[in-house]
Amino acid sequence: MLKRTHTCGDLRKHQIGETVTVMGWVNTIRLHGQVIFIDLRDRYGKTQLVFNMENYSGDFEQVKKLSIEDVLCAGGIVTGRDSHAVNSEMDTGEIEISVKNLIVLNETAPLPFTVQDRHSAEEDLRLKYRYLELRTEELQKNLLLRHLTYQSVRKYLSGRKFLEIETPVMMKSTPEGARDYLIPSRIHRGKFYALPQSPQTYKQLLMIGGLDRYFQIVKCFRDEDLRADRQPEFTQIDMEMSFADEEDVWNVSEGLTRAVFKDIIGVNLPAEFPRMTHKEALTRFGSDKPDLRFELELQNVKSFTDLSDFKHFKSAETVNALIISGGAEYSRKIIEKLTEFVKKYGAGGLAWIKVDEEFKGGISKFFSQELQAEMRKHLKLKFGDLLLLIGNKESVVQTALGALRLEIARRENLIDQKNYKPLWVVDFPMFDRDEKNDRLTAVHHPFTAPKTENIEELEKTAGSILSRGYDLVINGFEIAGGSIRIHKQEIQQKVFDLLKISPAEAKSKFGFLLDALKFGAPPHGGIAFGFDRLMMILAGTDNIRDVIAFPKTTSAASLMDDSPGFVSKEQLHELGISISKKT
Ligand code: AMO
Repeated sequence: MLKRTHTCGDLRKHQIGETVTVMGWVNTIRLHGQVIFIDLRDRYGKTQLVFNMENYSGDFEQVKKLSIEDVLCAGGIVTGRDSHAVNSEMDTGEIEISVKNLIVLNETAPLPFTVQDRHSAEEDLRLKYRYLELRTEELQKNLLLRHLTYQSVRKYLSGRKFLEIETPVMMKSTPEGARDYLIPSRIHRGKFYALPQSPQTYKQLLMIGGLDRYFQIVKCFRDEDLRADRQPEFTQIDMEMSFADEEDVWNVSEGLTRAVFKDIIGVNLPAEFPRMTHKEALTRFGSDKPDLRFELELQNVKSFTDLSDFKHFKSAETVNALIISGGAEYSRKIIEKLTEFVKKYGAGGLAWIKVDEEFKGGISKFFSQELQAEMRKHLKLKFGDLLLLIGNKESVVQTALGALRLEIARRENLIDQKNYKPLWVVDFPMFDRDEKNDRLTAVHHPFTAPKTENIEELEKTAGSILSRGYDLVINGFEIAGGSIRIHKQEIQQKVFDLLKISPAEAKSKFGFLLDALKFGAPPHGGIAFGFDRLMMILAGTDNIRDVIAFPKTTSAASLMDDSPGFVSKEQLHELGISISKKT
């Protein structure tokens, strides 16, 4: 085999006359009678090969039979193109290779889809042949960005005294809110390791171990309902710092985010990221991860609807509205679609009013002239506005209108894709109430410090106390989450009590951490970035699978290698496992 002298992206005008060898895949073939043009492609670019029947010493008929995606080795002379044939869209567009030797390194079987146009095939088919999809420019670009981002993260954090330390992948289960993926132990029959949902306990133990600043680019595993921005195995940039408070963690995180955005996509993020309380985020945007690239805030209209004759809203805990400029043009059909949309979020329906000389349509007739005038004044209503209203429990109103806000933004093209809006969401409640089981659950995780260190106060105000947790949101994605931790054993014990984790359970699950907290644990805190989500934003995609080489489907399967798969009876037997029939 000839040796590759250049990649398909290398050759330029100054190399004209050189004898070269390139290797790659056939991207396009054009037959022009006596002359055949082939664009040969590799990761670095494309180069035009020319086979001229008159001076090609090889088998011209063989060239004619080549197919797209065959793998070639082509040796020849770099030749300048005639000025009319220069292709300014190709880096190598000023030259071509006049081929003297051709070796077909491998022929391709008929392709399951057009490799150069990934959107020509359904995603499932592309995932089955992911290695073919990986040949596309888009995925190669994304994986290159991902590679550069690892470098940028490591450089930034290593430069600030963070040590990269690996933590175990086979561990004891820690609660992070999702189900664990379990690994049965052969040696310890009946016992299981868990794959980490995150290295949360280990990084705290590293602080107790005096390592001061830790980071890791680490795989995490969660068996949870998947969405466009969730994978069962995903990557975090996990960090922890000793003797640190919120400002210290935010400072490093902002610095890291700014460095990555600058290094990878040349974007300057603001010198300070704005902060918003969790409550304000929900009240104004109906979301704990608001997309601040557009305005459109929820408006509290309960005081007005209470004065109207629309009885339905009188008993509602909250009535909020979105005011859509120009929305009065929406047809009944569009409003019906939006109504179906909010129903998915638990809303019973969607009331509406069009603003004209007077209110029109929907529930307008329930609003007197005076009330309409009041509303025009206070809500700054304009001719052509559409009010979309939901009355329900506060949480339902916020969730449904928060989702509708995003839907309207998509529909109305309100989002500038080149805009990046980071935001810290702070002052989360410490606990949520699980009504069904009448118990409290941790909003972040049970190692998050409450705002008070006073155990009595913690006990008395558990239902309403805030935590020292925080999330970093960019463009409506939760990019990172973290907290200042509990570093005192008695507070940790109290939080377990409040979560109704019995002392025996706490001892069996986290005895090691409770023990460690007794031996001089320093105050500490940290954060974890969702690396894949960060990559989605940097790559400009809203599909997490576009930034992962071998992703899973939303049902946690890999269509390419067909995993998960069955295992042999012998393997199960060795592990002491039997599979029961589906119940
Ligand atoms: P948390 O659970 O908030 O915190 O996770 C941190 C970040 O990881 C990303 N993320 C995911 N990305 C893709 N697929 C998933 N299934 C998925 N789940 C989470 C999100 C999220 O913000 N140990 C704590 C961190 C800490 O307290 O320091 C933790 O894991 O971007």
